[in-house]
Amino acid sequence: MISQKTIAQIFETAKIEDVVGDFVNLKRRGVNMIGLCPFHDEKTPSFTVSPAKNICKCFGCGKGGSPVSFLMEHDNLTYPEALRVLAKKYGIEIEEDGNPDKSKEERQHLESLYLINQFTKDFFIDQMNNTDIGRSVGLHYFKDRGFREDIIERFGLGYSPNDGKSLMKKLDDVGYEKTLYEKLGVVKNGRDFFRGRVMFPIHNLTGKCIGFGGRILKANKKAPKYVNSSEAEIYNKSKILYGMFFAKNAIRKKDECILVEGYTDTISLHQAGIENVVASSGTSLTIEQIRLIKRFTPNIKILYDGDAAGVKAALRGLDLVLEQDLNVKVVLLPEGEDPDSYAQAIGTEAFVKYLDEKATDFILFKMNLLMEEAKGDPVKRSDLIKDIVSSISKIPDPIKRSVYVRECALQLDVGEKVLINAVNKNVVGNIQSRQRQQEINERRANRNAFEEAGFPEEDHSGNNDDEFGLPDSKSDNKEFESIGFQEKDIARILINFGHQNFNDDKTIAQFIFTNIGEIMDAFKTAPYNSIVFEYLEAVKNKTSLSPQHFLNHSDQKIREVALNFNSSPYEYSPGWKERFNITTSQPEPDQNFISDTTQALMRFKLEKIKELCEENLERIKSIAGEKDQAKENRYMQVHIRLKKMEKELTDQLNTVVLKQ
Ligand code: GTP
Ligand code: MN
Repeated sequence: MISQKTIAQIFETAKIEDVVGDFVNLKRRGVNMIGLCPFHDEKTPSFTVSPAKNICKCFGCGKGGSPVSFLMEHDNLTYPEALRVLAKKYGIEIEEDGNPDKSKEERQHLESLYLINQFTKDFFIDQMNNTDIGRSVGLHYFKDRGFREDIIERFGLGYSPNDGKSLMKKLDDVGYEKTLYEKLGVVKNGRDFFRGRVMFPIHNLTGKCIGFGGRILKANKKAPKYVNSSEAEIYNKSKILYGMFFAKNAIRKKDECILVEGYTDTISLHQAGIENVVASSGTSLTIEQIRLIKRFTPNIKILYDGDAAGVKAALRGLDLVLEQDLNVKVVLLPEGEDPDSYAQAIGTEAFVKYLDEKATDFILFKMNLLMEEAKGDPVKRSDLIKDIVSSISKIPDPIKRSVYVRECALQLDVGEKVLINAVNKNVVGNIQSRQRQQEINERRANRNAFEEAGFPEEDHSGNNDDEFGLPDSKSDNKEFESIGFQEKDIARILINFGHQNFNDDKTIAQFIFTNIGEIMDAFKTAPYNSIVFEYLEAVKNKTSLSPQHFLNHSDQKIREVALNFNSSPYEYSPGWKERFNITTSQPEPDQNFISDTTQALMRFKLEKIKELCEENLERIKSIAGEKDQAKENRYMQVHIRLKKMEKELTDQLNTVVLKQ
């Protein structure tokens, strides 16, 4: 692990204008700098860099952040990778902590694996270009398939000699460890694994070679058409997509990812100038692969070979994609063609036009396919409806769902109501089981954090008749939104001003946490709760956290939140003014963070009291039939107390606000 000290040094040293300037041509405009956004296509610049705040943000697409998060987004790096790039750029020596030797060893181990693969890749390339047999068999094969030299070079295609020992000998000569290259599977049982095949190196997102696919040259019924090197630590088939390194920028720019099956399909389309293409390498899509695509775009276009046999089976797996809220279109190629053959047959222009014209929404595509099959068979037809209903209910976006319901009801000739009911039933089931799990997890996490911090858990169980032993809060939406806003408010103040002094002996953060006993159980909303807990830890350790800390945070959600707090004007909770009957004047939070903090806390408490009040009233209503005078009195007392507190707080808030 990179030490906190090094991380702090990197944060202090890295200048946003340098880092962005490596990729974007920046022009000064007032105190800021501006350029064309590297994350989306634009003609007039809206990508703004603020050297003073050390952040950047695109006012077109919203992307941006600190030097670290900019690099992570732009080059698709992990947090530690981005830190290492910056350290290198500024000549900062990286200090490791934790268990330094072990992690260094581990990194060196991985580094060796990459090196061996790179060496092997170079070997195959050299064999293809610089030996007679390589040229006449390997290179000839690719050229015969119509691949251009620049494309062959770009994808690092090569040839493995047939003798079964050349590669191993070279690896030994250079001194690579046998256990390592056997682990990678380029040599197996003392023999070169790839023999007499044309070679396709497989790269990870940063362009490092992680494995190989080798294609047989002559049709041979016994041997498989393709073989792959072993899945070692650096190569996990289900997590990568072939060609992603070469396609990622085009995918981002086009805001669409074309998905094909084969290596040769990917390469062929690149050659045709269609670069936003990746291949699943013949297996069905995994959730990791879908998430990988989602990092670049929500739009997927899947190209299927014309032989419709496998299409139906493949479609079933696609519900996974719907769950991830991606927009999926499907293109069926003519019988007997695959993307490679078809693009070469009709040329780029016609191919692009074909894709545009034939792209069909996935659900409608599936429905048409199944309808064709179910013609005149009522049992199949009812299965089909169930199948479609299940697909539609996987879509998280309710508006999209209702559009599909309408369209499908029309095409299937079923009443829209019937379909809506069926979908809703499924959706509720899906959501309930997901939410139940999520709630359990969140509650557990919250509780642990506060218990660790030494704060007692407030007793809110419904069966306690103490004055404030009120029933558990129900999470209906109105309340949730409102509380979510208050949490956001506190998180905003902690991030922006937590490190500043509240008075002579307290920072803003310390002041907030002194008051947290009363508000702690209200922190439910991610990522605000994580921010609050993290800050609490820091305060316990007698340190504070700067805005830069959150702008550079390892959690992407937190970085985004911090960026928004730093670059957007302050807003009040919608309706809080009416709700609490308070006069407001909009303070400038940057200059007024002390009263900002006091008010935020008051609003928070007020919200909480409001909530307790409503619950208590519910309780009074619910015991109306019991005719238990004592109980009723007790609850009325609570009501009066709460109302009094509410009024006091409202008055205080009014005074503070009016003073400004
Ligand atoms: P060409 O036949 O050379 O055009 O290759 P292709 O890429 O079009 O192959 P195909 O459409 O048959 O298969 C699609 C992808 O599935 C390939 O690119 C491979 O990644 C994978 N694949 C196909 N056959 C095999 C096999 O026998 N073994 C393995 N491991 N993968 C295979
Ligand atoms: Mn093919």
